[in-house]
Amino acid sequence: MKNIFDKTEIKNMKFKNRTIRSAIWEGFSDEKGYVTDELIEFYRKLATGGVGTIITGFSSVIEYDRPAGNMISVYDDSFIPGLTKLTKMAHENETNIVLQIVVGGSQGRPGISKKVVGPSAHTNPMTKQIAEELSKEEIKVLVEAFSEAGRRAKEANFDAVQLHGAHGYLISQFMNPFYNKRTDEYGGNIENRSRFLFEIYRALRAKVGEFPIFIKINCEDFMDMGATQEEMFWVCKKLSEEGIDLIEISGGNATSRINEGVIRTKINTVEKEAYFKEFGMKIAKEISTPISLVGGHRSLKNIEDILNISDISYISLARPLLREADLVKQWEVNSEKVSKCISCNKCLNPKGSICIFL
Ligand SMILES: Cc1cc2nc3c(=O)[nH]c(=O)nc-3n(C[C@H](O)[C@H](O)[C@H](O)COP(=O)(O)O)c2cc1C
Repeated sequence: MKNIFDKTEIKNMKFKNRTIRSAIWEGFSDEKGYVTDELIEFYRKLATGGVGTIITGFSSVIEYDRPAGNMISVYDDSFIPGLTKLTKMAHENETNIVLQIVVGGSQGRPGISKKVVGPSAHTNPMTKQIAEELSKEEIKVLVEAFSEAGRRAKEANFDAVQLHGAHGYLISQFMNPFYNKRTDEYGGNIENRSRFLFEIYRALRAKVGEFPIFIKINCEDFMDMGATQEEMFWVCKKLSEEGIDLIEISGGNATSRINEGVIRTKINTVEKEAYFKEFGMKIAKEISTPISLVGGHRSLKNIEDILNISDISYISLARPLLREADLVKQWEVNSEKVSKCISCNKCLNPKGSICIFL
């Protein structure tokens, strides 16, 4: 029997329980992306709240690309000292901390990125941002930027680095034929569309060695012409074969069909919880790489059922930990406790991710 309070390990990384705080852009770095005291205090509440592993909000790996304001940056070495302060605080509180790294492309908030890039030139239907097609030279620069960001994460004492390969940001757009119409080796079948991801993964691995590399990835894009479950299954299997250390299963993007995407609303019945569980369970059965499942977990009973009927190893929570940073501590003493999060999504606030009920 699995229990969320089981202790586990991935390589040398020790997990005090099976809960992971899934990435949430915070909005509390300074304008350039340096760590502030406010950011550290935001994470202190989580680090003292019982969650085993915190994944930071997405951080910018290249100066021109910033999908959100006041996000963390890691695009040069000057960011390492601030990030080291953040990891020190988490470790003093016996909590793992993982840096999520991203290139946002056309899905960022308009007017913040200096240059908007995509697999192919397009206007994003949601953000209306106009993306320029990346040249092969520019792709190489980005591959190097991701791997350098991973090296910096290791130097700043993070426990792992997570590639943001989900939700319609650049890596995910490459895999999505709606956004990727290339006719070179980066476009066409899924092997080609995932080439950008695998080039990043291999460059990152070459740079960080045995340091744990995680990925957050879509089970599908939930849009006409998006990447399918069959294709994403293939990508997850290949990532596993190549040695990725943990795959966090999510789905959708800003242009997905309404309420079929990443941040679903109205999770008011047990049936609506854990909305990517079918794919998560299927892939966990097929590969030995640990799987974490994100999206709509609200009750401990349902979480433990999923852990026990499947090979899923970890459970990721995002909005519930904005509502109650100490939810996992509460679960330690009260297994009947259900998250107070009502999935209203009012935490999606350009000023910073805060629950309006606090
Ligand atoms: C305000 C907000 C910011 C988010 N920022 C990120 C992010 O930086 N990176 C990421 O991978 N997902 C991000 N997400 C998505 C969450 O990690 C998670 O996948 C989603 O909220 C579903 O899980 P939940 O039902 O536990 O909230 C964000 C979600 C919200 C609500």
